This record gives sequence, structure tokens and C-alpha cells, in this order.
Amino acid sequence: MTTACSSAGRDTAPDPSTAAADAEAGWFGDQPVDPSAKTGRVHAVFDSVARRYDLMNDLMSGGIHRLWKRRFIDRIAPRDGRTVLDVAGGTGDIALAMVRRAPAAEVIVCDLTEAMVRVGRDRMIDQGVADQIRPVVGNAEQLPLPDRSVDTYTIAFGLRNVSRIDTALREARRVLRPGGRFFCLEFSRVTDPALERLYQAYSFQVIPRIGAVVARDRDSYRYLVESIRRHPDQAALAGRMEAAGLARVAYENLTFGVAAIHSGWRL
Ligand SMILES: C[S@@+](CC[C@H](N)C(=O)[O-])C[C@H]1O[C@@H](n2cnc3c(N)ncnc32)[C@H](O)[C@@H]1O
Repeated sequence: MTTACSSAGRDTAPDPSTAAADAEAGWFGDQPVDPSAKTGRVHAVFDSVARRYDLMNDLMSGGIHRLWKRRFIDRIAPRDGRTVLDVAGGTGDIALAMVRRAPAAEVIVCDLTEAMVRVGRDRMIDQGVADQIRPVVGNAEQLPLPDRSVDTYTIAFGLRNVSRIDTALREARRVLRPGGRFFCLEFSRVTDPALERLYQAYSFQVIPRIGAVVARDRDSYRYLVESIRRHPDQAALAGRMEAAGLARVAYENLTFGVAAIHSGWRL
């Protein structure tokens, strides 16, 4: 497993206002935090949930996350010989699905939390594909990869955890080769108000309870729910992707907007 390196002198789009970025980074779920402390708090959450993460995903979503991920992989359509970087790759669901589709693709998984990467690494060994996937511990805001080095950048249920989303989007563009594609799967905004009320009730009443019983960690699952509500909606995220220099930005809602796939190009 390799670890992060510095990002000096990189090929990134201009920095947007840091005041707005600090305001966003100043929230850990619904708790105000010092912006410099947020990444450490997020790391602690995933360190705590790593061993129960896959089971909890199935319980919380009733398995729907698997359908969303399948749709995500269909949209990415990974190909042999291409380099794919899966950021915030966690326990490796996306990377594993990619090597099943394209066994001769070069797949790199980068995640902030070593505990998550280790669980993913064990799954890759169990499934006999450890040689095809390179795990890296690193931050989406400062990727340990050279400029223009990957064909496809993917991030699934990771962007809302990143302290500075705009910095991560500019990093995505930096590491993409011209002609490369960006794909993000993330919770988003339910489009129907009645469904949205039901969904909020489920999220805030049920998910932290499942977290308390199964993972013995109500607070981490409360953070996950709160972070979903704070994440930018479909149109706002699309606008921020464009501001980061990505082109031909589009999105597709999944399950009435509970989740969405955003895509864009580095031209
Ligand atoms: C909800 S999990 C998603 C894991 C996986 N992509 C999936 O879909 O199952 C979020 C992951 O984002 C990682 N993460 C959070 N902040 C990050 C950052 N700044 N850079 C890289 N990874 C980060 C966490 O360690 C965690 O593994």
C-alpha cells in the first residue's frame, strides 16, 4: 500500500473563494467544527465503521446501493488497457466491479482511511484479483498521482465526506488526461416533496438506530445521515463541477433523486 505525497506545482483550475469552502468545511454533519479538524473527524468515522461497513450498507439501503453501483459501472463502461482511479474507494465495491468488467484495466483505489483500504484489500485477495488493483492511502483533496495520469476518475459516496469539495473536483480534473471522464455517485436531493419527508424520517429515525444496534456506533451513522442532507443538490454539484473546469457536465437521478450520478469530461 502506498501513501500520499505532496501536490506542489500541479495543473489545477484556479482556486475559488476560500471563504465559501471554509464555511462548508466548518460542518461535521450538523456539528460546527474548525475546518482544519473536519478531515480528521471523517477519518475517525470510517476507521470506526470499517469492519461493519459492507453489512451496514446492505441493511440501511435494503441492498439498493448494489443496484445504484451496477448502474454506475454501466455508465463508466471500464475498458481493458485504461487507467481508472476510484477515489474514496473504501472497501473496494467499485474497483472490484471494474476489474470484473475489464480484467486488463489498471485500477487504482485511493482512500483516506487505511482501515477501509485494508478491508478492501482482504476482499480483493479473497476474490483473487489483488494483483489487478493498486490500493493507495491518500486524500481526494491532494491526490498522490501525477497530472494527466488517469483515463477515468470515479468517486462513489465519497464526495460528501471530503472537507473541500471544490478542491477535490479540481484535483480530479488535474489527474485526468485530456479526453478523460469523471463520474460521481452520491446521495442527492429527492425530487418529490412527499417522498422527501418519508425519506428524511427514515434517515433520521431508523439509520442511527440500525447503526447503534449493528455497528454499536450511533454517532457515526448520525454523521452519515447529516452529511447527506448537507451535500449540494444535483444542480449545485453540476455547477461546481463546471467551475472546477470539467466540461459537458450532466447528471442522472436514481430512485427519485435519493442518489445521482454526475459525469463530466476533461477536455
Ligand atoms: C461512504 S464510504 C464509500 C466507500 C465506497 N466508495 C463505496 O461506495 O462503498 C466513504 C469513503 O470515503 C473515504 N473518504 C472520506 N474523506 C476522504 C478524502 N478526503 N479523501 C479520500 N477518501 C475519503 C472514507 O475513508 C470512506 O472510505
